[in-house]
Amino acid sequence: MSKPKILAFSGSLRAESFNHKLIERAAVGASSAGAEVNVIRLADYPLPVFCEDDEAANGLHENAIKLKQLFIEHDALLIASPEYNGFFSAALKNVIDWVSRPCEGEAPLGCFLNKHAAVIAASPGGLGGIRGIPRLQALLTGIRVTVIPATIAVSSAHDAFNPDASLKNEKHDASLLAIGASLANAAAASKA
Ligand SMILES: Cc1cc2nc3c(=O)[nH]c(=O)nc-3n(C[C@H](O)[C@H](O)[C@H](O)COP(=O)(O)O)c2cc1C
Repeated sequence: MSKPKILAFSGSLRAESFNHKLIERAAVGASSAGAEVNVIRLADYPLPVFCEDDEAANGLHENAIKLKQLFIEHDALLIASPEYNGFFSAALKNVIDWVSRPCEGEAPLGCFLNKHAAVIAASPGGLGGIRGIPRLQALLTGIRVTVIPATIAVSSAHDAFNPDASLKNEKHDASLLAIGASLANAAAASKA
């Protein structure tokens, strides 16, 4: 059977994003469990704030089409989002809104069908972005994604990583790797 494919990204557009680092480390756990992991940056797919008038006039933005295709090609989503004012990022919500728009002949929410996801977060603050996690999990569940319950919120993110991108806290590092592995296993079981 082919390897499960995981699309991994953070909801941050920042070049030095702690959440992107978190994704790269969780991806190691997923790869070790046998998944093929494709780590992307949403900043490479800039999108205007979604507006139905623009969509009616111009159709789906080319970067939304590219992202939607990536979603379709992968079995699972590994997502880390910054917490802004208690919520996951607007950039991430905007991407989800764009890719949720149907192309001709596509089933409603087609690019989310049969998808698993894991949601994690990092923040320089003391709570690690934990308030945004259930909100993103709820959003994904509402669009038919199966969200695995395992999660982590890494606090003091500015001081949490070793130079090799592992977490200094060994227990947290093991948990992060295990989340990547759990997502890989869930996606593999779903493919079987
Ligand atoms: C507008 C704004 C709101 C923020 N709100 C929160 C917040 O509610 N909770 C939190 O832990 N950090 C908050 N932060 C700090 C972010 O967690 C921090 O900028 C973080 O580094 C962003 O994630 P990134 O490193 O992946 O880009 C906020 C930052 C900004 C710019």
